[in-house]
Amino acid sequence: AQRQRLRRSLLEWYGQQGRSLPWREEPTPYRIWISEVMLQQTQVKTVLPYFERWMQQFPDVQCLAQADLQTVLKAWEGLGYYARARNLHRSAQEICDRHHGKFPQTYDEVLALPGIGRSTAGAILSAAFGQAEPLLDGNVKRVLARLVALPVPPSKALAHLWDLSSQVLDPQNPRDFNQAIMDLGATCCTPKNPACLLCPWRDDCQAYQTHTQSDFPMTESR
Ligand code: ADE
Repeated sequence: AQRQRLRRSLLEWYGQQGRSLPWREEPTPYRIWISEVMLQQTQVKTVLPYFERWMQQFPDVQCLAQADLQTVLKAWEGLGYYARARNLHRSAQEICDRHHGKFPQTYDEVLALPGIGRSTAGAILSAAFGQAEPLLDGNVKRVLARLVALPVPPSKALAHLWDLSSQVLDPQNPRDFNQAIMDLGATCCTPKNPACLLCPWRDDCQAYQTHTQSDFPMTESR
């Protein structure tokens, strides 16, 4: 019952407050993949112009695979963490060689691509193919840590957080649910001064209910 309430309220909030983003408007696997890798260490507003330029320059996985690395790195210039661009280029070549140019659809195949970890794999599979795979990025860790008033730092409870992420995930609509929980963390359940009065989860949030939202997530103490 609590799960159902969390799902319903979050999806309703997302319908009203969710952001309109180019990879959501036209969610092809290629666009989802590129956007998720760009978003790994970079904020949405920085990513937007890079994403649009990238899609002009490398409109599909074949174009990316055939481009030379220097051109790819040049298109990445300013985004930082250049290993991400090298991995995208290598992945594009693997997708062309091993998957006939079609983005893979199984968890193990997606996770096997260079530069893709568990959370990015979950984000891609849910957004691109509607698969019920959980994700756990920094935003989602914070949301869940507050929801349950997690008594240890997230790094000490990763297995539990993955479990929670799977349990709350809406099996009927994993695509929107995962987008919604990321937006909730990015725009409402922010690190500082979270907007709890606007949060769809405040009635269930253990941190909010005990007025301790600023104490969570707990940090590493030395
Ligand atoms: N951060 C990482 N992936 C994201 C997404 N798909 N939407 C919003 N924020 C994100």
